[in-house]
Amino acid sequence: MRAIQFHQFGPVEELYLGDFPTPEPVGHQIRIKVKATALNRADLLQREGKYPPPPGESPIMGLEIAGEVEQLGENVTKWKLGDRVCGLLAGGGYAEYAVIHEDVAMPIPENLDFLAAAAIPEAFLTAFQALVWIAKLKADETLLIHAGASGVGTAALQLARLIGAKTFVTASAEKHALCLALGAEQCIDYKTQDFAECIQEWTKGRGVDVVLDFLGASYLERNLKSLGMDGRMVMLAIMGGAQAAGINLGLVLMKRLSIHGSTLRARTLPYKTELTQAFMELTWAHFASGKLFPVVDKVFSWKEVAQAHSYMEQNRNQGKIVLSLA
Ligand SMILES: NC(=O)c1ccc[n+]([C@@H]2O[C@H](COP(=O)([O-])OP(=O)(O)OC[C@H]3O[C@@H](n4cnc5c(N)ncnc54)[C@H](OP(=O)(O)O)[C@@H]3O)[C@@H](O)[C@H]2O)c1
Repeated sequence: MRAIQFHQFGPVEELYLGDFPTPEPVGHQIRIKVKATALNRADLLQREGKYPPPPGESPIMGLEIAGEVEQLGENVTKWKLGDRVCGLLAGGGYAEYAVIHEDVAMPIPENLDFLAAAAIPEAFLTAFQALVWIAKLKADETLLIHAGASGVGTAALQLARLIGAKTFVTASAEKHALCLALGAEQCIDYKTQDFAECIQEWTKGRGVDVVLDFLGASYLERNLKSLGMDGRMVMLAIMGGAQAAGINLGLVLMKRLSIHGSTLRARTLPYKTELTQAFMELTWAHFASGKLFPVVDKVFSWKEVAQAHSYMEQNRNQGKIVLSLA
């Protein structure tokens, strides 16, 4: 098969489309003829050599796919040839064929095409895991989402709206209109405004119940200031650094805060299966009705993968970037 690979770790110039062995489905795996895949920040890190795939997983980039079931492992019971599915992978999405366990494949709602369906799994499952499973976000609670116009941010905004929480976001100013359209109550231009001060003002000093963070060190102190009593923070990335010094941990103590971290990629199959099923129970009817939808900023041909990676590297996307294999 053909797959996007890189000659060596490095910039987008290292990317190329070349031959790679076609994966064989075994046991409960199904092989998908990939129609579309979508970019994730992790792909950029993997290309640079900073985020290796978990042991035993495909070395090909790509954490999500949409396509048609093309071959069945010998124990598969849930799918038949030709079914339209999308799902989360630990790797291998940037390729003509990918294998996925039958329990974590999701049927594509009829109203969605492959390009839209490829933009659902990673962003929405990540946001669902963080907000519903970890933070246990409830109706009428308040939430601060950083990088509100990111793939994960646009999914988190919609899930928060579904749950009935009140959301504040940080994002570049030109991305505020999208965040407001997705249900944000207020937007903060983190380049010119201090988000902790805005949160204090908007919550009348009470602070928010939940923070969804991707920045780590650079935001830690202001995140702790922004949280209210019994607040929960879920940290999913460290785009702002891993080492934090001079932080007042008294805030954690006095406000009884909980700080959680998580990565989805390395989770076990049983965990991903349970997560996928719980996610579908809450959301799938809403995708079918159009109440929830993947926000797709731009579709590139997979032959333009270098331009697609550059687009994400320059923080230009609002929502997801999709690669079409058509
Ligand atoms: N732990 C997990 O399980 C998990 C799973 C999926 C994704 N993630 C993480 O979640 C984050 C979002 O992923 P994604 O694929 O949705 O990303 P994305 O669509 O590429 O969006 C990332 C956005 O973050 C903002 N940003 C970048 N650098 C920043 C900085 N230094 N300070 C403030 N904002 C910055 C930019 O928006 P602005 O223009 O608004 O600055 C950028 O467009 C990534 O960090 C990714 O690694 C974690």
